[in-house]
Amino acid sequence: MARDLTQLELLQELAGVAEENVNRHLSMAKEWHPHDYVPWDEGRNFAALGGDDWDLEQSQLDEVARAAMITNLLTEDNLPSYHREIADNFSRDGAWGTWVGRWTAEENRHGIVMRDYLVVTRAVDPVALERARMTHMTNGFASPAEMGGEGGSFLHSVSYVTFQELATRVSHRNTGKACNDPIADRMLQRIAADENLHMIFYRNMCGAALDLAPDQALESITQVLERFEMPGAGMPDFRRNGVLMAKHGIYDLRQHLEEVVQPVLRKWRIFERTDFTARGEATRERLGEFLEKLDSQASRFEEQRDRMLAREAAKREKSAAAAV
Ligand SMILES: [Fe+2]
Ligand SMILES: [Fe+2]
Repeated sequence: MARDLTQLELLQELAGVAEENVNRHLSMAKEWHPHDYVPWDEGRNFAALGGDDWDLEQSQLDEVARAAMITNLLTEDNLPSYHREIADNFSRDGAWGTWVGRWTAEENRHGIVMRDYLVVTRAVDPVALERARMTHMTNGFASPAEMGGEGGSFLHSVSYVTFQELATRVSHRNTGKACNDPIADRMLQRIAADENLHMIFYRNMCGAALDLAPDQALESITQVLERFEMPGAGMPDFRRNGVLMAKHGIYDLRQHLEEVVQPVLRKWRIFERTDFTARGEATRERLGEFLEKLDSQASRFEEQRDRMLAREAAKREKSAAAAV
């Protein structure tokens, strides 16, 4: 059996591809400014400066849009944790270092624009938001990538962020629609376009790692998918908000499978490749079984959700009828 490549060997072998992809990213990325996406004329002082403090009635967003906005923003806020993970696993030399710095600066822009929008429009409670940010950042984030093996941490990181960037893109897009505000929608579309470019960088890197070390890379990809979670654990109300988002189609298992996992696996041609040894073939079989399981979980969730939404609609109709 061929020996697994070490972390250092992977980084050295892939340095050229990293450079190509950093250059590709820089040529594709568009400059944009957070202040252009915020309706500043809706802003006014809070009580500390003689105005009024926040009240739920001021919010133009419904409960689902608020939960999604907060979850997405806190995820962006936790950037120092992700920066540390990526910087540790990618090295800070040459193109790797350029990428880590650039990516961090772009992600920070997302948090800036979303917070400005939410505070200026009084869409969410700024005190609760700040407290949640403090808790979430203090807890930090450790990727589920602590899963051994030579070169494992680079491969785990790069496959995790490929799926995560795409998941974030889907979540931002659907949050934009749920806000019912063209300004919020435009802002989140802008962010989602960045997330897509990030995903492409990581997907290309992981694709190159698959070509270089097929068995080893597939093992990481499979483990990451089996344990995939959005990076929100440690966030106040993470479960509650996650359920709300899944229930209302912002990010659910079906979207995870069909809009995130499958398109990436297709791009890597996982099920058509002929470069796996017996070890890789066995992993691929495990991955196939996992995808089937995910598909039936998604169907079960959809059935439950349909029943739950129907019950809620019936309840609303009943109370509307009673009120007449
Ligand atoms: Fe982002
Ligand atoms: Fe991103």
